[in-house]
Amino acid sequence: MHSPSSPPDLIGQSPIFLDALAHASAAASVDRPILVIGERGSGKELFAARIHFLSPRWEGPFIKVNCAAMSEELLDSELFGHEAGAFTGAAKKHRGRFERAEGGTLFLDEISSASLRVQEKLLRVIEYGEYERVGGEQTITADVRIVAAANVNLPARAEAGKFRADLLDRLAFDVVIAPPLRKRREDIAQLAAHFANGMASELDERFPGFTPEALHTLQSYSWPGNVRELKNAAERAMFHWSSAEESGPIEKIILDPFDQGEALAPDLAMPASEAERDKPSEMMDFGAKFDLRAKLDEIEKTLVTDALARSTGNQKRTAEALCLTYDQMRGLVRKYDLAGGS
Ligand SMILES: Nc1ncnc2c1ncn2[C@@H]1O[C@H](COP(=O)(O)OP(=O)(O)O)[C@@H](O)[C@H]1O
Ligand SMILES: [Mg+2]
Repeated sequence: MHSPSSPPDLIGQSPIFLDALAHASAAASVDRPILVIGERGSGKELFAARIHFLSPRWEGPFIKVNCAAMSEELLDSELFGHEAGAFTGAAKKHRGRFERAEGGTLFLDEISSASLRVQEKLLRVIEYGEYERVGGEQTITADVRIVAAANVNLPARAEAGKFRADLLDRLAFDVVIAPPLRKRREDIAQLAAHFANGMASELDERFPGFTPEALHTLQSYSWPGNVRELKNAAERAMFHWSSAEESGPIEKIILDPFDQGEALAPDLAMPASEAERDKPSEMMDFGAKFDLRAKLDEIEKTLVTDALARSTGNQKRTAEALCLTYDQMRGLVRKYDLAGGS
């Protein structure tokens, strides 16, 4: 954990990662919005914090809001505040995060989840530095720099009309890309050792290192959950080593904690409910005349949606499960508008 008043340590030496860091550091000094794009767990929040602490606003507040964690109404009043009596339950005036971030940086995580109405208000703050509290008449001025984070789907969402293109243009004054871990495998050993070390001190143990086989396992996996997933796997490995009272280097890596042997595991390849299981056959019951293309689309959409849900929205794994290329998968996600939040 980094102290809240200094830039966080970002571990990694790979050229692609160092490029991203250099880009973030350079972008930090310009008082304009920045968009940090990357897959889940790729370190977007750490990049955002680094941008703040390397910016002229570093002594000001660094305030975070996760736009996916709240309903539209709540997000609106969280960001912009509300007047007393603005809605049921709003007994007192509430300062929004914009007010609290005055003179500093506001980190808007999962910006793609913000409703179009909130997006419109955000655009106005960026363009004119002005907004009103929910239920308020008075115009408030804001001196806040926005750093927003989104997964790689944001431009696609703008294309689909789900995200304001004009807001995207403004946010994308500069775009920092947090690279996925599978594109910087050289960093895996160092990151894994770092996280295992942290777990070892928590357990009052010494980190014994990994065996070459364990390292190979870590280095060849695809890491759809990126650094967050690696952190878990490294900590889990250290913890198991410690509880099994082993002595040599860590051998055992558990990538999938759900995978505990065939006999116990629920069949994840099967649809969850009766209703879902019946879907494909039910859809075969077409009647005398039907639109073949539309029906095939419907079937395709259902099967892809289910497969996506089974890999918790991970398009790469879903593509593998459906024997599709990643590009084909992305095409289908776009066609049926299946992209979720970040
Ligand atoms: N380069 C890095 N060095 C050290 N820790 C990292 C790095 N990148 C990510 N992490 C850690 O991985 C986890 C996920 O990072 P986070 O910034 O929350 O990802 P995201 O916001 O993209 O989902 C956090 O625990 C973070 O501290
Ligand atoms: Mg995050």
